[in-house]
Amino acid sequence: MENIKDLINNYLLVKKDDTDLFDVLHFVQSQIGCIPEDIQKFIAARMCLELSEVHEVIEISSSFQEKKQISVTVCSGSGCTMKGSMEILGIISKELGVNLNDEDKSVFLTVKNCFKACSYGVNIEVNGELFHNVTVSTLGRVLEKIKFYY
Ligand code: FES
Repeated sequence: MENIKDLINNYLLVKKDDTDLFDVLHFVQSQIGCIPEDIQKFIAARMCLELSEVHEVIEISSSFQEKKQISVTVCSGSGCTMKGSMEILGIISKELGVNLNDEDKSVFLTVKNCFKACSYGVNIEVNGELFHNVTVSTLGRVLEKIKFYY
């Protein structure tokens, strides 16, 4: 699965010289709903611009949203816990370098006591998208989705 940086690279390759910063920022906004700081740095480097130029364009246009936290919620209900949700929570925390309920990170990792989909557990929600039947061995698809937003 491609992440947003791959998509930006592809976008710039297709557009070649026929694009400007405003186009690229609109493209990113349409893909992930915001333009996080690390993506601004990536765009600046990729387009040989100063980061301040990217900031300036974002600030003067109300159509761009600079920051957005990625929300990841792991089910802590008894059904999912019995299927290993707490082990999966630990892996996500370690893989992303975030602690539970830490609001200062770009990923907000939290738990919820049952999504009312117990027979499909382990259930994990990423920005409103619910993943079912997650196991340690299938966790990669959830991590890919989370990392897409980076
Ligand atoms: S226990 Fe996880 S959805 Fe109910």
